[in-house]
Amino acid sequence: MENVALLGATGSIGTSALDVIARYPERYHVRVLTANTNAEKLAQLASVWQPETVIAADESAYKPLCEALERLGVKHVSVAAGPEAVRAAACDPEVDTVIMAIVGAAGVVPSFAAASAGKRILMANKESVVCGGSMLMELVARTGAAILPVDSEHNAVFQCLQAARPEDRADARIWLTCSGGPFHARPGIDLESVTPEMALAHPTWSMGRKITIDSATLMNKGLEVIEAHHLFDKSADDISVVIHPQSVVHSMVEFGDGAVIAELGTPSMKTPIAYCLGYPERLSGAARRLDVTALSSLTFEAPDMKRFVQLAYAYEAVRRGQGAAIVLNAANEVGVEAFLAGRAGFCDIARVCRAMMDAYVDAPLVGLEDVVALDHETRVRAGAWLKQR
Ligand SMILES: NC(=O)c1ccc[n+]([C@@H]2O[C@H](COP(=O)([O-])OP(=O)(O)OC[C@H]3O[C@@H](n4cnc5c(N)ncnc54)[C@H](OP(=O)(O)O)[C@@H]3O)[C@@H](O)[C@H]2O)c1
Repeated sequence: MENVALLGATGSIGTSALDVIARYPERYHVRVLTANTNAEKLAQLASVWQPETVIAADESAYKPLCEALERLGVKHVSVAAGPEAVRAAACDPEVDTVIMAIVGAAGVVPSFAAASAGKRILMANKESVVCGGSMLMELVARTGAAILPVDSEHNAVFQCLQAARPEDRADARIWLTCSGGPFHARPGIDLESVTPEMALAHPTWSMGRKITIDSATLMNKGLEVIEAHHLFDKSADDISVVIHPQSVVHSMVEFGDGAVIAELGTPSMKTPIAYCLGYPERLSGAARRLDVTALSSLTFEAPDMKRFVQLAYAYEAVRRGQGAAIVLNAANEVGVEAFLAGRAGFCDIARVCRAMMDAYVDAPLVGLEDVVALDHETRVRAGAWLKQR
């Protein structure tokens, strides 16, 4: 029996992960479930899954969580709150596998904790890889931990790379596919006038709010470029993005002999989650099958990086280094939050990213403390910039 800690259990990835795990009760035991503030949903999950521990990252959710657990009659569960409790759960000696389904840079510290403890990490939280960069990858290599990419594009690349011997992967090029979000195919839309409702209507994927906005700005693809750079040790020149509105091809790898290997499937996160959970075994039955005969056409085109500038900023961050990636990510998170709260316009997200990247002077980072500090400083500056603009 494999003990699983599911960090970010109440979100979109968390829900899909539990749907997959439910199919294999003889293989996986859910030992830890965490959320941020959604005490009610976390308590409901605890009543179904009977974990040893439940944790609310936001301390103000502790009391509502205890009350909800009592109301639902959930007993014999240890309850904790606060980011330190989430960090400790990620390196719990009883846990074998950590599913990192937290959204945003809040995932960074628990990811480092899981990596330090040599865990098998099913990594959905791309922000951890973006901010942790080579520091996180080196830690994983040192401790014998493993990062299995849940992000569908990186999961596809991971699968495609296995078509070649390790020594033949060095000159492989990565093609990350991108749905284009709701606006790429609609050049007539003035991005300045985009509202949260318009940006939250993703054409093909059903996801959490932050990643859905990132998909509309193409920042999501930008974060994925940085993620691919670290996960697969590829330079910016070896990673291309291609707009593929059907979201059937989840990504491709081009090898030195000209062969291009692609991974296809329905747009469901259950496929990559099941792949990572079972790896190297393939678990059957989690996702809807792809009916290839129903595909009328698959189209691919270059992204418009002049209109969706955040994708270009991500390439710039790969070239500049870890600090620039942390700054870009933090500014974006602040911008997205402000946009969703009605305090900023859609294009202000890109503007605050540009302002923070321009203000940042590239410098090497030494440890996790530097990562956390730079993330924090940038958030404060980005918040102030948005207020004053
Ligand atoms: N959704 C997808 O299809 C998809 C695909 C590929 C990659 N990803 C990546 O997977 C991650 C999760 O995405 P999602 O769409 O599942 O997000 P989501 O639906 O917003 O869920 C986020 C989860 O993280 C928790 N959380 C939020 N803030 C937190 C904090 N400060 N500390 C600890 N926990 C916190 C939330 O708890 P509450 O419910 O209490 O707020 C929730 O459980 C993101 O990094 C995203 O980029 C998602």
